[in-house]
Amino acid sequence: MDKLAIIGGRPLYGEVAISGAKNSALKVMAAALLTDEKLTLTNVPQLADVDMLARLLAQHGALIDFNDGTLTLHAKDIVSTEAPYDLVRKMRASFNVLGPLLAREGKAKVSLPGGCAIGARPVDLHLKALAAMGAEIELDEGYVIAEAPDGLKGADITLPFVSVGATEHTMLSAVLAKGVTVIENAAREPEIADLAKCLAAMGAKIEGAGRSTIRIEGVDRLHGAEHRVLPDRIETGAYAMAVGATGGELTLTGTDGQLLGAALAVLEEAGLKIDETDKGLRVRKSEERCKAVDIVTQPYPGFPTDLQALFMALMATAEGATSVKETIFENRFMHAPELSRMGAKISVDGQNATVRGVARLKGAPVMATDLRASMSLVIAGLAAEGQTMVNRVYHLDRGFERLEEKLQNCGALIERVKD
Ligand code: EPZ
Repeated sequence: MDKLAIIGGRPLYGEVAISGAKNSALKVMAAALLTDEKLTLTNVPQLADVDMLARLLAQHGALIDFNDGTLTLHAKDIVSTEAPYDLVRKMRASFNVLGPLLAREGKAKVSLPGGCAIGARPVDLHLKALAAMGAEIELDEGYVIAEAPDGLKGADITLPFVSVGATEHTMLSAVLAKGVTVIENAAREPEIADLAKCLAAMGAKIEGAGRSTIRIEGVDRLHGAEHRVLPDRIETGAYAMAVGATGGELTLTGTDGQLLGAALAVLEEAGLKIDETDKGLRVRKSEERCKAVDIVTQPYPGFPTDLQALFMALMATAEGATSVKETIFENRFMHAPELSRMGAKISVDGQNATVRGVARLKGAPVMATDLRASMSLVIAGLAAEGQTMVNRVYHLDRGFERLEEKLQNCGALIERVKD
């Protein structure tokens, strides 16, 4: 397994082109199953997760072409309505093919995605929404077997708590349903509005995406379209925090500060100067050391859970003590013991952590069990004295496009070590 070797302590200067958002790309890709015409997506990041979903869509019958950020998907005929365990278990976003297959073909058999390192992550809300829309659902040997012989029907769906995945999956299912679907307590992440924009370009009728109530009027068919995936807000936050950890100045091109939601003000309070320019965002550090700022993770526009681990790495060398409360996932502090190996002072108590800033971290061999936690170790490594070896780089390859190249271009000493 590849590793990343980082020699820390060098400030970052230059430009980083922010990629298209992984978590939007994966949902708009599933929309390709809703039409027999071609869907062209641009600004698609070249990531292991995108390749994996493309493989699954190809298995359902989509013709795929991916070249230089442009992904065309043409599901003229659906040749299989079964999504096998091997392709779904590795990535939860694959589960989103269930609704589109059901909407288009009236039946689907999709493996349950199972839990993952950050928590149990059930899909009960997805299934309840589909059942409310008239799907007959059975669970058998780890598979969801669903049928809607007369098609899906519009329904009023109130989510008991905010779920990005359930909101998106319901949208993907409702666009071809008969009648009107209303989703209450919907997630408001920018990726939801991006999915709605793509579906609307395909002929869907959706109002309110990006707000708590989304109204979808089903249509008989969708057609081909072209859609540009929005910039990755988590990658944007990651490079901004890298500047916070190392100093220097980066221009993050092709992105926008609004996407960061509450994280923008938190980073500014911590001591980053973030200015909108015509290219994107210019990020600098105003003081030698960042200041501690408490955070609670929340659905958008709150502080994103996907930046929590990275922020803890930044706070590891801040002045003062930071309290971090994780409210979205039940097991999302696995980076804490790894950061501690580098000299961070972190105590964890259930869903709460306290980070007491130290003047300097020390490089060490470390390893994380998920994508964002791995990135927090990269940020810590960039700030630390000496060499950090981040193991299990395949996590990073799932979600950060050309990571080491982007960092090297800004002066970081980071290299992939092939095993
Ligand atoms: C999406 O996951 C993202 N993944 C996650 O990013 C992100 O952390 C999360 O939203 C929150 O922002 C993708 O977009 C591919 P949820 P998702 O449904 O949709 C519980 C990354 O690193 N829940 O909003 O799975 C769930 O267990 C990943 O890129 C149920 O109980 O998140 C969690 O505790 C990690 N039942 C909470 O809701 C359900 O049916 C919120 O999950 C669905 C969710």
